[in-house]
Amino acid sequence: MSIPNDAQHPSPLVNAPEATRALLARLHAESLAQESVFDLRAVPADEFRGAVADKFIALDEDKCQFVYQLLRATGARRIVEAGTSYGVSTIYLALAAAENAAALGGDAVVIGTEHEEAKADKARAYWAESGTDAVKTIDLRVGDLRETLKTGLGEIDFLLLDIWTPMALPTLKLVQPHFRPGAVIVADNPITSAKGYAELWEYIRAPGSGFTSLNVPYSNGLEMVVYYPPK
Ligand SMILES: C[S@@+](CC[C@H](N)C(=O)[O-])C[C@H]1O[C@@H](n2cnc3c(N)ncnc32)[C@H](O)[C@@H]1O
Repeated sequence: MSIPNDAQHPSPLVNAPEATRALLARLHAESLAQESVFDLRAVPADEFRGAVADKFIALDEDKCQFVYQLLRATGARRIVEAGTSYGVSTIYLALAAAENAAALGGDAVVIGTEHEEAKADKARAYWAESGTDAVKTIDLRVGDLRETLKTGLGEIDFLLLDIWTPMALPTLKLVQPHFRPGAVIVADNPITSAKGYAELWEYIRAPGSGFTSLNVPYSNGLEMVVYYPPK
């Protein structure tokens, strides 16, 4: 989007070593460069997985910064990310979770999910290069998230849905029993992917669901959802 990170509008910088910020800037730039020559929406459904198996498709930098701020504001320490790809947004999640644990106590855990082995390997390599111990909080689960999220979640503070839309509702339903009251869910691209998310919104907006939801007006939208289990 369009929030300029210049002298008039200073960047909402994350608390991270210079090496980490430099890596994040580089990876965001690589992701954008790929997207400038690759139109995700033009790929036929049956070719989709293969076509994106070597693409970042990272969450936009300004959205990552917003998510980081949300995590700091809510003290989130146990986080699920669907999916992880090359692990760009995961670094922001790890930075916030580690800082929150240092400030508030308890353990920080970022459960990442990725079904492409090669992407998982590359994500681990970027994290090793990141220059921050915060990445040690990442528990990357390789395989289909419909299997890998079945166990070992604990109480979850935050869920990032940065995943193909058919996976969004199955993921939410797997994690929902583990949400703490006031858990936050963020879903990317609710405007451009409105059709794909139809089932998710129907579920979230059903009367008595326990969810409230609003679109934050970033480019293509960013849905912010809050969950309190109905009494
Ligand atoms: C939009 S990308 C994630 C980008 C990442 N959050 C970032 O900002 O760097 C979505 C990822 O989800 C993965 N994925 C899709 N379906 C999946 C599934 N069923 N289980 C696990 N990972 C899946 C894809 O391989 C892809 O790498």
